Amino acid sequence: MKTKKNTQNIRLIIFTLVFFCFTQSFCYAQQNFWEPSHIIGEDEENIELKIDSIVSQLTLKEKVDMCHAQSKFSTKGVPRLGIPEIWMSDGPHGVRAEIKWDDWGYAEWTNDSVTAFPALTCLASTFNPELSGEYGFSVGEEARYRKKDILLGPGVNIYRTPLNGRNFEYMGEDPLLASKMVVPYIKGVQKNGVAACVKHFALNNQELWRDQINVEVSDRALHEIYLPAFKAAAIEGKAWSFMGSYNKFRGQYCCHNDILLNQILKGDWKFDGVVVSDWSGAHSTKESALYGLDIEMGTGTDGLGTTTASHYQHYFLATPYYNKLLSNELPEASVNDKVKRILRLMYRTTLQKNRPRGKMNNKEHHGIAKKVATEGIVLLKNENDFFPIQDKSGLKIAVIGENATRSMTLGGGSSQLKAQFEISPLEGLKKKYKNAKIYHSMGYETGPSIYDTVMPASLDADSLKVAAVNLAKKVDVVLFFGGLNKSHLQDSEGTDRKQFGLPFGQDELLGEIQKENKNVGYILMTGNAVEMPWIDSIDGLIETWYLGSMAGEAIADIIIGDTTPSGKLPFSFPAKLEDNAAHSFGEISYPGDSDLNQHYKEDILVGYRWHDTKNIKPLFAFGHGLSYTSFEVSNIKIDKTKFTTQEHIELHFDVTNTGNRKGAEVVQVYVGKPNSNIKRAVKELKGFQKVHLENGEKKNISMTIPVSSLSFYDEQISDWNIEKGKYNIYVGTASDNILKEITITLK
Ligand code: BGC
Repeated sequence: MKTKKNTQNIRLIIFTLVFFCFTQSFCYAQQNFWEPSHIIGEDEENIELKIDSIVSQLTLKEKVDMCHAQSKFSTKGVPRLGIPEIWMSDGPHGVRAEIKWDDWGYAEWTNDSVTAFPALTCLASTFNPELSGEYGFSVGEEARYRKKDILLGPGVNIYRTPLNGRNFEYMGEDPLLASKMVVPYIKGVQKNGVAACVKHFALNNQELWRDQINVEVSDRALHEIYLPAFKAAAIEGKAWSFMGSYNKFRGQYCCHNDILLNQILKGDWKFDGVVVSDWSGAHSTKESALYGLDIEMGTGTDGLGTTTASHYQHYFLATPYYNKLLSNELPEASVNDKVKRILRLMYRTTLQKNRPRGKMNNKEHHGIAKKVATEGIVLLKNENDFFPIQDKSGLKIAVIGENATRSMTLGGGSSQLKAQFEISPLEGLKKKYKNAKIYHSMGYETGPSIYDTVMPASLDADSLKVAAVNLAKKVDVVLFFGGLNKSHLQDSEGTDRKQFGLPFGQDELLGEIQKENKNVGYILMTGNAVEMPWIDSIDGLIETWYLGSMAGEAIADIIIGDTTPSGKLPFSFPAKLEDNAAHSFGEISYPGDSDLNQHYKEDILVGYRWHDTKNIKPLFAFGHGLSYTSFEVSNIKIDKTKFTTQEHIELHFDVTNTGNRKGAEVVQVYVGKPNSNIKRAVKELKGFQKVHLENGEKKNISMTIPVSSLSFYDEQISDWNIEKGKYNIYVGTASDNILKEITITLK
């Protein structure tokens, strides 16, 4: 009897212990999933001691060798001391295919096809930071699997002009949105023992003349608009590396810029990671040594090709640096600091104990890619419930436009990917519609582009147009797949778009089609706002961005209505180019004058801040995005109306899904200060919350906004300051759809 009881007790103890351990580890995992410790595994102090000890054992030559490339995408280690190489890859929408050692050609490996995730513009449109964490984690897993130590991304340059060829790689025009979205991405990537490399620091807001343009911008706009997302990346995201940008700021190249790198990033923000140059972004040994650059990459683009001796030894931070250190023209402390930062990055990545092994092309990654794609698609216009289009037998749908079949993971420059697969919109629709019949016609030709598949000679522009118009005559509904396509000048790195309007005669083709069939919906694929002279003649308009591997499935889900759109615009769509702030000041503001100087004349009034303040109605406003269901935001309340600067504003409201489909609404909170003593935008985004609701469901939401976030950057004191008095809190579902205004007072 006694023994039986003992056994029972032991069983009970074991069970309790196992249960305890399980729940603890589960809670631990839950709490820590997005919170990687700064240096994983080992105590920071201990690691700093190790780093000091390694630095003391390295020769000067070995130290210098660690500060520059040894190939297109790697740096040297020190085998003698077990110090590994560092391997990098673009970023930010997936892991780029392997590039040759010494030139930009692809290595043609057979095991480097990846999951292509949607472009960062799409990610920003989800207004869903949690999803950004899952995106970052998945890309990080792929990077780790591909044995990369630094993933070159994400990019958070602010959307300033719709002509910037690279906007699709960034997170929109609002500093708060970009900050909130970038932090979880970084944490997600770094959870894998892979460093995120936040780029391009800073003010790389156009591609045209990117290597020479000198940006002049006020301190206020710098700190309030262009730096916050980088600051969040460094301080909250704890990014382990940053990439300098190509352009100059106040006369000095950003890859070795005393103000940006030494004073702000490494000084004010206490960034202890590595600054990597953009490829060929370094221009001087002395400045690279002294003004914040740690690793020089990509100088010259043809590697060993130009010299008989090792080309990499001619880099600014290679032999020239070594010689200047030897002759004491430059202090050894400069190289010691760089090497310490590089070793610290290694302890966080390559030298990390228990580093995860990574995964690639798994179902989870495809699932995340699809989730981001469907949540990021924005329904811009939907008169007469044009969308969704039900799957009815007898229904004939024409899919017209090259973008319905073109690969959008190729092109665009360094962010292009070798996707393991990419589901085109046409494929997605054909698979999804079981009863309706889908027909396809290419519609327009895109002209020569390096990425184009060869077009049969018989398919010239006229015959394509005739075929498309003939098809349009015979169907019930036309889905026009237009937009840009990541070819040269059409959303691509290295140069800007030349026109705000759409290329390849798409507008004319649409007009011809509409003469035969009025029932046309537009599926726009861009990373930028475009001119839409046809907007009034179209009932349904969807912005899909560039969606990666799962594009076709996501688009088909939205078109048929399996998923209700919930994306919101991360930047304003001006009706015409001159309505955009940067463009309204002429060439001194964009693209810069003949001396390659550029002044950001619009100052803090970027994007919706400009449209609101100058009363220039955009075609589609920041934060806009429709749904197939309807929502009510009610009982909007703030607990009290008087605050001190230390406090938080607690906001409460109910969101009800009043329609008959499951969906999500993004509630946006803006703040403005009427009668301010300083120049201000009418309102600025200070918080947002995406709320997912079943039909009929109601949720009570609370949001907290720190009063300190109402501060402005005061150039008189070179610091943040806050005005007392009345502020208006605006709660709405788009920057041009404010549902409630509440006034508070700051004491
Ligand atoms: C781009 C970077 C990229 C690098 C390496 C540069 O031209 O500006 O964003 O990471 O190339 O491909």
